[in-house]
Amino acid sequence: MSAAVLSIRAVSKRYGERWILRDANLEIGAGERVALLGESGAGKSTLLNLIAGLEAPDTGTILAAGCTIGAADPDDAATFRRERLGFVFQAFHLLPHLDLIQNVAVPLLLIGCPAEEARARSQAMLERLGLGERGASLPRELSGGEQQRVALARALVHRPALVLADEPTGNLDPGTADRALRLMAEQVRETGAALLMATHSEHAAAIADTRYRIVDGSIVPA
Ligand SMILES: Nc1ncnc2c1ncn2[C@@H]1O[C@H](COP(=O)(O)OP(=O)(O)O)[C@@H](O)[C@H]1O
Ligand SMILES: [Mg+2]
Repeated sequence: MSAAVLSIRAVSKRYGERWILRDANLEIGAGERVALLGESGAGKSTLLNLIAGLEAPDTGTILAAGCTIGAADPDDAATFRRERLGFVFQAFHLLPHLDLIQNVAVPLLLIGCPAEEARARSQAMLERLGLGERGASLPRELSGGEQQRVALARALVHRPALVLADEPTGNLDPGTADRALRLMAEQVRETGAALLMATHSEHAAAIADTRYRIVDGSIVPA
């Protein structure tokens, strides 16, 4: 049994009077790939935002890669976010005025990697994703599928322990989505990261080892 990269213990979260998560529990082991299913509005993005420290739980504990998220010491969450976490968004969120190498290099520069090394590692990551010739391009010059590959490169380049992906193929056509999913599964496996992917698609969930569903605020096996 590998050590847990993520432990969610009795976490509850509400917006106003409405409880989105109620006593939710989830454990993810090192290198495990988990799909989180659930209808639109079920609370998938809310859970990912809690793990990323972008929101705070009302009750419960989140332990991620050895850090307590949402605890009294906000430095802990910030360090975790910078060093141990990669995030792939549905809408890619590339920085429009930076070229592809500069986009991928952002997480490395944030953890203090020297500029030359950051460039070289970003170029190598783009090559692994079939975009080695495109380093000087701007995001808007790429197709949706290519932009998602850059987003994946950026999420993995600093070798995070945990990658969160929120509907990562929601903006891609089915064929492109398929390729992006295969590539994500392969690259996550190669870097040894654990993956937590929120999706409403059974098809996307097929790349995972383990599947859960959010039902009435609880996380249940699916
Ligand atoms: N900042 C917020 N304030 C109030 N309600 C929110 C906020 N964020 C999300 N919600 C509500 O919480 C519920 C869960 O949202 P979300 O986590 O985005 O669901 P999913 O990602 O599964 O589609 C939705 O009903 C949504 O409208
Ligand atoms: Mg969502």
